[in-house]
Amino acid sequence: MIKKQTQPPEYWDRLFAPSSCLALITTADRSGRTNIASYGTCTRVCHDPVYIAFTTGTGKDTTKNALDTGEFVVNLPAFNRNIMEKVLVAAIPFDPGVSEFERAGLTPVPASIVKPPLIEECPRHFECKVEWSREWAGRVMIVGKVVSASVDEDCVDKQGFVIWEKVKSAHYCGASYNNMFVPAWEAQAFDTPYTGPERIFDGPDRSAAERIERERRAKLK
Ligand SMILES: Cc1cc2nc3c(=O)[nH]c(=O)nc-3n(C[C@H](O)[C@H](O)[C@H](O)COP(=O)(O)O)c2cc1C
Repeated sequence: MIKKQTQPPEYWDRLFAPSSCLALITTADRSGRTNIASYGTCTRVCHDPVYIAFTTGTGKDTTKNALDTGEFVVNLPAFNRNIMEKVLVAAIPFDPGVSEFERAGLTPVPASIVKPPLIEECPRHFECKVEWSREWAGRVMIVGKVVSASVDEDCVDKQGFVIWEKVKSAHYCGASYNNMFVPAWEAQAFDTPYTGPERIFDGPDRSAAERIERERRAKLK
């Protein structure tokens, strides 16, 4: 089993990349029964501190559990057939109390701060406490503050940047595409064709991106 490595807060932002990902969200009800559901609307909405948001139907177990207990875990799966199939099973509306862990063949791992477990088969995990929620049009937007983040130890470099070929982020195409996903790990940096004094990014993250891009180009040679 690959060891899960807890990341320091200054690396949480770079661990959730790209800034919107397919996710498996774990929650627990008041009596501790766990639940998994698939979410395509999961987005990192603040860098520092790190907050993650998703939108969910009002009647769903995830919604009820997250609002009742104030906790949820965002698990980011890697794009491969085996886990995408499990993502589809986890999205089936089982009755409350039916274990999606069992039905989908996924393994719970205790989280470090919150009650809902991590999913072992996902390489990245963000333990969240609900910061605020807002209901509109039969949906609820839930925003969580990340209180701990962990990752399979072979999926990040020493500075906490993801190794794209390992984390293999995925996006969901949306309900009208039914069971279709897009791989999202061909990361590439681009020049900013603007010569004025203003900059979009500066500081250590900019030089890190340049280093990652140099390494990527060197590999292509
Ligand atoms: C890939 C995928 C992404 C999904 N994304 C969302 C989403 O962002 N919001 C939502 O409300 N439902 C989404 N769903 C549907 C939920 O996963 C589904 O309703 C699930 O049964 C909810 O489970 P729960 O009642 O245990 O919380 C998605 C389904 C799939 C297959």
